[in-house]
Order: sequence, then C-alpha cells, then structure tokens
Amino acid sequence: MTKVKTVAVVNGGGDAPGLNAVIRAVVRSAIGAHGMGVIGIHNGFDGLIWPEGAKEFSEESVSGILPRGGTILGTTNRGNPFGYRTTEDGMEAVHDYSGLCLENTRRLGIDAFIVIGGDGTLHIARDFARHGLKIVGVPKTIDNDLSATDVTFGFDTAILIATEAIDRLHTTAESHHRVMLIEVMGRDAGWIALHAGMAGGAHIILIPEIPFNFEDLCEAVHKREIRGKGYSLIVVAEGVKLPRSDPSGKAIPATAPGSVANTIAFTLREMLHKEIRVTVLGHVQRGGSPTPFDRILATRLGVHATDLVARGEFSRMVCLRGTRIESVPLEEALAQIKFVDPGSEIVHAARAIGTTFGDSA
Ligand code: F6P
Repeated sequence: MTKVKTVAVVNGGGDAPGLNAVIRAVVRSAIGAHGMGVIGIHNGFDGLIWPEGAKEFSEESVSGILPRGGTILGTTNRGNPFGYRTTEDGMEAVHDYSGLCLENTRRLGIDAFIVIGGDGTLHIARDFARHGLKIVGVPKTIDNDLSATDVTFGFDTAILIATEAIDRLHTTAESHHRVMLIEVMGRDAGWIALHAGMAGGAHIILIPEIPFNFEDLCEAVHKREIRGKGYSLIVVAEGVKLPRSDPSGKAIPATAPGSVANTIAFTLREMLHKEIRVTVLGHVQRGGSPTPFDRILATRLGVHATDLVARGEFSRMVCLRGTRIESVPLEEALAQIKFVDPGSEIVHAARAIGTTFGDSA
C-alpha cells in the first residue's frame, strides 16, 4: 500500500451546521496524527474543474471555525463534473469535465479525497472512485435521510431551530385562537418535521411518508376545539405529498418546497373558516452555529475518515451506528434514502400522546 502524503477535503451540496467541524477534524488529525498534508478544494467539485482556489491547510488555518456555521470551503449544489450544465449562447450545454478533474488531481499532488456530502455529492464521489480516485465519504444533510448512518450532523441543529420556532408559534397561536402552520425542511423524508413536531408539542404533523387528507385534518382541529383548545399547530414537512383534490373535488395545484404549507392553508381556510397563518422556516434551519451534538458527531466522523485514509481503506463512507463511528462501502451507503417508517415506535409514541398525522389512523 502506498502511503497517502496529501489528502484533499471537498464538500458539496447544501451546507449543514457542523461542516467546519469536520474540516477542522480532518486537518488537525491528518497533519497532527498522521503527518499528511491537507488541501482544501473550494465550492464542491467545481474547485477541481477550476483548481486555482485550492489551498494547503495548516493547523492554524482551521483555528476558531468549530462553532461557525456554513463552510469555509464554500459549496454549491449544482455542478456534477460528469455532466456539467451551462448556458452557452442562450442554449443549455452539458460538458463532461471528469477527465479534467482527474488531471487536476494529479497536478495538485492529491493522493486521496475526503468528500463530505449528501446523496448527490456522494454519488459523484462514487463515480470518481470508479475512475480510480481514492475516496472516503462523510455523510452530510440536515434532512437525516441517509440510510447507512443513524444520524447525520446538522440534523440536531435543524431540529433545535425548528423546535424553538414551534415554541414561539405556540404562544401566539394560543393567544389569537388561530391555526398556525409551520413548514420545515426535508425534501424527501419527514425527519425534521417529526422530531421538531414532537419536541415542540405540535398537534398535527404532516410528513411525506404518511398520506394525509383534509377531512381528518379538519376533524383533528375540531376535536381540539370541543376540548376548549381554540388553536392548533400544524408542522408540515416541505416534501409532504398533497392530495390531488380537496373534499369538494377542486384540484390542488402542484407545489414546490416553500409554498406547500401555504397551499394547505388555502384549503383549510375554506373548510375551517378560522384564522390561519403560515410560517415557512426555510434556510434558518441550515444557518448558524452547530449544536454541541453536531460539533462532536462531525468531529468524530472527520477523524474516522482521516484514519481510514491513513490506513488505505477507500471507497467507504463513515457513519454512526448506535454509539459507534463505523464505516460502510460507499456503494452500500448510497443504496437508498432513509424514510420515516409509519409503523415505527417513534410514530407510535407521537400518536399515543395525541399527535395526529392527518390520516384516519
Ligand atoms: O437537503 C438539504 C436541504 O436543506 C433540503 O431540506 C431542502 O429541500 C434543500 O436542501 C434546499 O436546497 P437549496 O439550498 O438549494 O434551497
């Protein structure tokens, strides 16, 4: 086995609180514990197509970044070097820059990569691994929907922010006897909505994994009113699947994240004749300082990824299993998205304390 002298660290996709903690852990352990050099690639794989910004890290250069949100490397959630989309003369063009990336890897003297990313970025990493690059992946997404790891860093911070928002909406909803909807992130899976909804004591939680209908939603609000609770809090995962039509048969328009809760509110207003307000939480769930849990998880994942590089164990992704940091083959890690199981204990617990999912169960 040839020893890795220089490892590059690259992150791609949406940022997540804890990214800087991973970078710091990689730099410190690679230099301090393994005597490797570390190069930072900027703005995802774009930085390998245009490598002018690539910079060698020193231990000093990552000082003070542990509590910082975002990523000091910059990121992008576009830009797949195997099929890079641009607009040329008003027309869409697609280029394969993967060969250029391989050439720049050699020119920069990079022996191995630590790639921090979600589903999209890790698929690109897997494709590069198939072309011979030595890669260790670190899972990253606030959505917590990667099946190979129990938890992703950034998730804990996101649910803290969402829970705080639900707490705040509680008091104003109660004072005004309103129905309040809060839309949280989670493109494919309902983890943020479920966890923040439970932690914030939401009355109704709508997630992609449990189809809801408007009749049951309204009945849940009415039942609360009969108990003297004139207000209801509904947490909506942005990826929730909307019914095709409302109970009167009127078609519900297709909506994108950011306007899902508003679309639901439109129908609810007509059915409930109550005051309804909507909050779309958006990117505040991703910004700002990571929680202690995310800082520690990110640090452990970064150190373990670096240890794998030092041991020459590539095409793997580090992960959290129970209380242990382990690793799985990259191919296996990408196999499927982790959805909320409607029959799971956590959903049962939510139902048992009176939370409704807008279905008839
Ligand atoms: O995957 C993370 C995530 O924050 C999703 O929850 C959300 O749908 C998406 O990224 C938002 O992406 P963008 O930053 O491009 O708006």
